[in-house]
Amino acid sequence: MGTRILEFPKGFLWGVATASHQNEGNNTNNDFWAWEQMPGHVVDGTTSALACNWWENPKPDLALMNDMKLNTLRISLEWSRIEPKPDQWDSVAIEKYRALLLDLKARQITPMITLHHFTNPIWLAEIGGWASPKIVERFAKYVHKAVSAFQDLCTIWCTINEPIVYGIHAFVLGRWAPGDHSLCKLVQVTHNQVAAHCAAYKIIHELQPEAQVGIAQHFAGFAPADDSAWSARVAKWRDTLLNWRFLDAIQYGKIAFPCSWFPHHNLTFSNTNDYLGINYYGRHLVKFSAFAPGELFGKSVSADPSVAWPAPWQDREIAPECLYDFLVRMRTYQKPIYVTENGLADSEDTKRPQFLLEHLAAVHRAIQANIPVRGFYHWTFVDNYEWVEGWTARFGLIGLNPKTQERIKRPSADLYAAIAQKNAITEDLVAQYAPQSMDKIFCK
Ligand code: FCB
Repeated sequence: MGTRILEFPKGFLWGVATASHQNEGNNTNNDFWAWEQMPGHVVDGTTSALACNWWENPKPDLALMNDMKLNTLRISLEWSRIEPKPDQWDSVAIEKYRALLLDLKARQITPMITLHHFTNPIWLAEIGGWASPKIVERFAKYVHKAVSAFQDLCTIWCTINEPIVYGIHAFVLGRWAPGDHSLCKLVQVTHNQVAAHCAAYKIIHELQPEAQVGIAQHFAGFAPADDSAWSARVAKWRDTLLNWRFLDAIQYGKIAFPCSWFPHHNLTFSNTNDYLGINYYGRHLVKFSAFAPGELFGKSVSADPSVAWPAPWQDREIAPECLYDFLVRMRTYQKPIYVTENGLADSEDTKRPQFLLEHLAAVHRAIQANIPVRGFYHWTFVDNYEWVEGWTARFGLIGLNPKTQERIKRPSADLYAAIAQKNAITEDLVAQYAPQSMDKIFCK
């Protein structure tokens, strides 16, 4: 029996993160549903269809969360269900979300609710979505309605999931609806997202002074792939623009280049975040390329196979130390932190146990350095529909056959349950699930 142990603070939140479109099924009234029906958009030609069937029956998965002693769940609300047409509110959908939240309460699972996780009602997409000058007002109305309906059952709100990732996929890379290729639009969309977040922040606090409001910001590590000063510069730009710009805007009220090109909304942005949410998956090696202005003049280079993610993300490195670095760099904001997403696409669960242990050890190390990390949300609970990767990328602690809805627990589910139950990583767990990481995890 080993005796070494990494204990987490009392009351630490252990949970999983999900998103409405990826889990609920039959979200027929949003722009991503329309997009995935069109041939050529999704790599394996699948559609979200029933997804994990959570709209009809989330209970078996929630019961399993209870068995695993998880005490928090991050969900998102599907705007297109709550407001299927402009200013028409669907009371049946609202009641269904209330029933889910009441169920979570009965199970003592604390919800974190995301208000926008990539999908938009069709009617909103038709007027330009996040590029529309109307978006701030539209988002504010929806947020007002949603928070009024659920505030007695939720205090942790996440206004927008990964604003920059959404903007890039939808408006620059053309991989998601509306399939645009315009850097100019990206700048405009980002500006609108900052303003929409800020409006939402104010509305939520007016309705619910005790609420905790933030965003889930995607952080990726960027390291130069060679010795060139230009590659180093590209890595630095990407870090500044993609990782930190949005948070700086809502913390310090700075609308910095390139968003400063657009007329400012009449709002004060500073200090419109009560916590920081970090979605972290890995690190990219970048090499300068004069021919890739849309990618901030950088091309990703394949990672060494010994640290590479499984396909199709081989250009990403597994780098838990980078999560630690980001958490430490967040100290300057002086806000509590949640790891709002972290996980690995690994259908065989070959690398996930080690990944999970090493990333949680990195979180623990940050906590030891007095970084106020309050909770961890593994992405995700059961395999879900991975956007244009369709069903090819399996992030679940639990495997899913989307056709039969059959679930199969992966070893990582037992590992995560044991950690949540003990509120700690023990030497025995490391010996059982990732003995090769023993020294790394218990380093002094
Ligand atoms: C994040 C998204 C989430 C899921 C994971 C794998 O960037 O927020 O919806 O796709 O990646």
